[in-house]
Amino acid sequence: MRTPIIAGNWKMHQTGQEAVDLASGLRQRLKDVNGVRVVICPPFTSLLSVSRAIEGSDILLGGQNMHWEEKGAYTGEVSPTMLLTAGCKYVIVGHSERRALFSETDDTVNLKTKSSLKFGLSPIICVGERLEQREANETKEVVEHQVKGAFKDLNSEDVGKTVVAYEPVWAIGTGKTATPEQANEVHRFIRGLLSSEFGRECAEEINVLYGGSVKPENSRELLEMPEIDGALVGGASLDAQSFEKIVRSSIGD
Ligand code: PGA
Repeated sequence: MRTPIIAGNWKMHQTGQEAVDLASGLRQRLKDVNGVRVVICPPFTSLLSVSRAIEGSDILLGGQNMHWEEKGAYTGEVSPTMLLTAGCKYVIVGHSERRALFSETDDTVNLKTKSSLKFGLSPIICVGERLEQREANETKEVVEHQVKGAFKDLNSEDVGKTVVAYEPVWAIGTGKTATPEQANEVHRFIRGLLSSEFGRECAEEINVLYGGSVKPENSRELLEMPEIDGALVGGASLDAQSFEKIVRSSIGD
């Protein structure tokens, strides 16, 4: 039985005190919640202060991106050890905004995935098709390419520590959500791929999250689907009440 994961991707939102206030508010609201892993991913500049604000609670911290090298002349980048020492346990890798706006490729996603695992961070690996690809019936082909690219050269022990987020690009920030059945079908396909590459037992351990306009109004029906093991939430994670409702819906609360 996989414990659901609800991860909040704050993107480029929340300045210093706003981030601390949001994290503290969530801590308060979620203090009686069990049976779900809650992860919040603030911008780099707020990682340390948010880490302090959630210290001693069950809320976990994640980075939104990282470089694969441990250190070096990479102006503007952040390394896996920097994330770790800021208190992160997770890191989002290959988000579609990074792929589309910052030229990330399956190869860099693979480098980041391997590096995060080497340093003890769990990567949340994002995959998903664009609208024209779905309309051309290419969803599975695109997702297969991204999954195989991200997981290239990994062993099954490492694979078990990863999280996959299926985020159809057309559903991100648009208010359009994949139907529970559409999402579940792709999730099942992803697990099948991982099962044939790394074995059934390993594939069964991996949480496959859904992302793309998840909100309190639709989270329950999505999270009830057998292959949907949680959510990666953007916009609705910036409001403590909405995020709380999504977290609670993952445990049928
Ligand atoms: P959204 O973003 O919930 O605002 O659609 C999801 C994401 O980009 O991870």
